[in-house]
Amino acid sequence: MHVKKKKLIIANWKMHPGSAAEARVLFHKTKLTGGRLDAVETVVCPPSPYLGLFAHAGTSRVLLGTQNVFWANSARATGEISPEMLKDLGVSYCIVGHSERRALGETDEIVSKKLKAVLAEGLIPVVCVGEKERDVEGRYFGILKTQITASFSGTKKAQFRDICIAYEPLWAIGKSAREAMEPRVIREMSIFIQKVLSDLYGAEAAQLPRILYGGSVEERNTAPILSEGGVSGLLVGHASLNAEEFTKMLKIANAL
Ligand code: PGA
Repeated sequence: MHVKKKKLIIANWKMHPGSAAEARVLFHKTKLTGGRLDAVETVVCPPSPYLGLFAHAGTSRVLLGTQNVFWANSARATGEISPEMLKDLGVSYCIVGHSERRALGETDEIVSKKLKAVLAEGLIPVVCVGEKERDVEGRYFGILKTQITASFSGTKKAQFRDICIAYEPLWAIGKSAREAMEPRVIREMSIFIQKVLSDLYGAEAAQLPRILYGGSVEERNTAPILSEGGVSGLLVGHASLNAEEFTKMLKIANAL
């Protein structure tokens, strides 16, 4: 029997909403819809102070994720959160190296350390990569290659099945569906990411990580990106804060 692979849809709430009460409502609505869908795995990544509100509230269909993580379980690291603490709260997924964190100083080397720490704790990393801009000379290919090579350094092939890569071109983040990357180009980029992995680790291993797209995914481009973009799922920012829109996106993904 052919088992249909579930689509992975991750809600990245960033630094929203402004109160725990609003976060509870948003989580509840998302969980209610996500919990009914058998072809989608929904992941909610709230800001860290709200993680405790949803500790162990995840199910096999709606899981808890985090927007950031530290690279060690035990360290003098004021303000950081360890993989062990996250696991203890029932967190399953960790976004690593989001462009907004890279803009605050997170380097490929840090991303690589975090990736290894997350895997060691048995959590699923969502490694974000993406170029700042598209230049006509195609330099963005090289930039992406460097990001992937450096971020994955020290990672073992055997761990690839548990890794997600979110391709998020910075220029397409936080806009509207009209300005998002076109599905055809997303497909090209996901093939390129696999090619980079294949050159580094071999063709078989390169097939294992799930590749997601993020950057202005809204209700109107959910279906085209999932069906023509060659990706296994989506990393959704602003649209995930609107429960009505996000639950529609989950249903669209479930119906494909
Ligand atoms: P956006 O954000 O959907 O608002 O573009 C995506 C992200 O930054 O992960």
